[in-house]
Amino acid sequence: MLDPGEQARPHRHTGAALRFAVQAEGAATIVNGRWCDMRSGDLILTPPMAWHGHINHSNRRIIWFNAANMPLLCALNAYFFEAGDPTDDDFWKVDAGEERIWQAAGLASPEAATVPGCSPKFHYPGAATRDTLAATSAGTDGSRTVRYINPATDGAVMPTLDCYAMRLKADSPTRTRRGAYTSMCLVVSGYGRSRVGDTEFEWGPNDVFTLPSWHWVTHQALGGEADLFIVSDCIVFERLELLREEWR
Ligand SMILES: [Fe+2]
Repeated sequence: MLDPGEQARPHRHTGAALRFAVQAEGAATIVNGRWCDMRSGDLILTPPMAWHGHINHSNRRIIWFNAANMPLLCALNAYFFEAGDPTDDDFWKVDAGEERIWQAAGLASPEAATVPGCSPKFHYPGAATRDTLAATSAGTDGSRTVRYINPATDGAVMPTLDCYAMRLKADSPTRTRRGAYTSMCLVVSGYGRSRVGDTEFEWGPNDVFTLPSWHWVTHQALGGEADLFIVSDCIVFERLELLREEWR
């Protein structure tokens, strides 16, 4: 959260993090010298050791959903943090820069610099996500789901965080599944109900809930469609060859 005029000073860390803009018109995140506006539904990545800072130019409080892999890095004793120069005004005097190279799906420059395991695209506009969801057919679980991908590899956007957007059809529960990994869900729009293990609860816009490892999960939108943003550590388990999933 940033109040009008506030900024989070430049810094970087080994932790991978992301922001999903909830109410953030007028705010921006700078990632490795690229200006990323934070419009509603935008996803912005800050890959490991990417310099970043945030600024609120609007006259109202802005709010985003933040996810990071700090617990994993702390458990591995691999968390390092570097503060940037708070007096460096040039940090904020940037435009979208090389982010434009990765703007359009299906187009990539073979010369563009990439970092193994991390998406070279940092900014995934919400408008494109909504358009893609609308054009996508329902999958085997009954939802329309799209994965945010690294355009250089078609894999997960970062080495430890994997992101999805899910559109739930009204009053139609998703197929029950469980996985040996953890996910967090942000309700982007709509209302619904989820059953996670033995617990059932209802949710609405901006609610956040977790899907703990190896619990049976089903979601259902109520009274209309609902959109979820989901971030998961399943890619860690996949890379360690520990990924396990079951459907019912
Ligand atoms: Fe940070």
